[in-house]
Amino acid sequence: MNRIHQLFLIVVFALSAIASSVFAQSRGKPDLTDEQWKFVDDLIAKMTLEEKAGQMVQLTLETVTAQISDADNKHALDPQKVHDVIVEHKVGSILNAANVAMTSDEWANVIETLQDTALNDTRLGIPLLYGIDSVHGTNYITGATLFPHNLTLAATWNPELARQAGHVTAVESRAVGMNWNFSPVCDIARMPTWSRVFETFGEDPELASRMVEANVEGMQGADLTSPDTIAATAKHFLGYSVPHTGRDRTPAYISKPELYDTFVPPFDAAFDAGARTIMINSGEINGVPVHADSRILRDLLRDELDYAGIAVTDWADVDKLFNYHHVAHDLREATELAVNAGIDMAMTPMSPEFADHVVALVKEGKIAESRIDESVRRILALKVEMGLFEDAVPSQAARDRIGSDEFAEVSLEAAREGIVLLRNTEDVLPLKENSTILVTGPAANDLVPLHGSWTYSWQGTDPALYPESPTIVDALTERFGTTNVVYHEGSTWGELRDIDNVVRIAEMADAVVLCLGEFPATEIPGDISDLRISQPQIDLANALAETETPVILVMVTNRARIITDLEAGMNAILWAGHPGPLGPQALAEILAGDINPSARLPFTYPRQPNALLMYDHKFTETNTPRDANAGYDPLFPFGAGQGYSTFTYSDIDIELPEFDRSGLKGPMMVTTTITNTSDRAGSEVVQLYVTDQVASVTPRVKRLAAFDKVEIAPGESMTVTLEVPAKAFTMIDRDGKRIFEPGTFTIQVANHSSAVTLRPKD
Ligand code: BGC
Repeated sequence: MNRIHQLFLIVVFALSAIASSVFAQSRGKPDLTDEQWKFVDDLIAKMTLEEKAGQMVQLTLETVTAQISDADNKHALDPQKVHDVIVEHKVGSILNAANVAMTSDEWANVIETLQDTALNDTRLGIPLLYGIDSVHGTNYITGATLFPHNLTLAATWNPELARQAGHVTAVESRAVGMNWNFSPVCDIARMPTWSRVFETFGEDPELASRMVEANVEGMQGADLTSPDTIAATAKHFLGYSVPHTGRDRTPAYISKPELYDTFVPPFDAAFDAGARTIMINSGEINGVPVHADSRILRDLLRDELDYAGIAVTDWADVDKLFNYHHVAHDLREATELAVNAGIDMAMTPMSPEFADHVVALVKEGKIAESRIDESVRRILALKVEMGLFEDAVPSQAARDRIGSDEFAEVSLEAAREGIVLLRNTEDVLPLKENSTILVTGPAANDLVPLHGSWTYSWQGTDPALYPESPTIVDALTERFGTTNVVYHEGSTWGELRDIDNVVRIAEMADAVVLCLGEFPATEIPGDISDLRISQPQIDLANALAETETPVILVMVTNRARIITDLEAGMNAILWAGHPGPLGPQALAEILAGDINPSARLPFTYPRQPNALLMYDHKFTETNTPRDANAGYDPLFPFGAGQGYSTFTYSDIDIELPEFDRSGLKGPMMVTTTITNTSDRAGSEVVQLYVTDQVASVTPRVKRLAAFDKVEIAPGESMTVTLEVPAKAFTMIDRDGKRIFEPGTFTIQVANHSSAVTLRPKD
């Protein structure tokens, strides 16, 4: 090869390397025409550095409002502040509610005024991205549809419901002009004490990935200009959910194999579904805050995962680099770290000062202007893709759809399929018609634990903000009749109430429905030091268990609070999580037998506070390598749950695709026949687990690889084929690379298992 030719090749390689790091990222990239990309690039060319930096700032709504009433915390826009933030400081995005929810008309007025200002009063007329946490429905609009929180949604094992919930949330949020939703949570709940477990889709990457994927598709639809869509956020990238202390925003220590095997998959699924934005993990991994870690925000996110969407910080996380994590001396240095690490937008959220630092740092040469352009291009492209330059606030007609009966039906179905029946001794359930019932416990007559945090306010704990809706007591009274249902508080979260009287009433009833749990809270306010349920609740349960009357325990909680000191006396146990406004109706229907429960636990329910192993632990984590499950003794395992039907499985039949040294060439098809041996129709969740028997990085005892939910008529059989992706037979090596190692794998469906050896001949 002559020298000129060699040089030419070097240049081509160098250019393609640059192109691959800057332009090749494709997942989450706005789908724009060439003309639209030209519009974006022309706009960037016209922008001053100050205007670009302003696009990278996101402020909270309170920075443009003033409180108008002391009594109810109400805020209204303050025109001077609006001008100052949008016109003077050129801020490109606003988020959040000003403390509490507003009506849809109030929201539409607020967002319309803000967009009008951005479009008409600024030099270049760039619309705003309006971000909101519509995390279980549109929880900041009064009168909108609320859903169960994600953990209960995951318990449905029905991604279609996550898709529909995403769609409804998009329609209702966009109807008032919110165009960016900070949802879904893609964190995998690996620390049972963590305050945000209820916001996740549980502990398993496969189940969470399928829910996330459907949820993102439901939100974003096929065309983001449509009023039925909203830009989704895969959050919190990544490894946020396994704080070593169990407390929110405290350090995590995650090995490379664990990072790729457990925490990447739901983000991968969100990116495949086209999630347009991500939010960064507020915490640190292995000593480096993620907001300052270019290995995560560039090497992993952009280069390896090929992600092209907007990376927004979490709340005040640039500031936190100096005032919380202590890796920077001041906001200037923190800004340099975060922007150079790869963030695109800072949820600052109280002050636009971040933009001043960006400008100064570019002028000092500490941040390249091309780095700023890269972020601004992503931000503007999304605004173009969503059609915000043409239409930023939808019509009254769109608002009329908010809170429709059709949307409520989706929420009801999610609650029906999301409440898990974990125990039903001697078929105490369903309750007979005309049963007399004592309903008691701190969650029995309170809307707050049913809804959880992020309900009309951040912590969700102010019942005065809630519209009227039935509590569990109301729903049971409605279903079983006023004369059959009696309510007694029994205990608060922290104190027994009139226990002798409760026991006396219980003795006279046919059944006790005991509603326990915890007072909702999220993030740092939700930190706890003891996973056990509070003592007065234990005492109440044990006093009721002394009676002859069967006790049906309903857990209404953020996470799996330990109930080992009381469970033995419970005849039936249901886990409801935060089932939402229609949870009480769904529960009443399940207790009465109108609905046949079909939920399964999306997490392992621990028995003891110091035994928090997940179902997919390592063989050695039980200390007895020869018997994988000795030492692993949860109260209820991941995937547990029953209904009023019974099912049997036939043997499994495996169809093996071609494979070679690089692994399987396609999915493995596993077929089984399931028979409903009961006299009522019911749904079964078919769960398929794979175990890699020997691997160079210690394997797990098993991992969920595929699942399906099927409804089977009484006495009927159904043949179900599960498609097990080739990936299920790969592993993450020590360097974080996904590889195939030939060997033997166990495939398990219900109580049937089979071993397949995948060893290429050559
Ligand atoms: C939470 C995020 C949320 C953000 C905006 C933060 O405190 O960690 O999940 O999206 O606030 O409200």
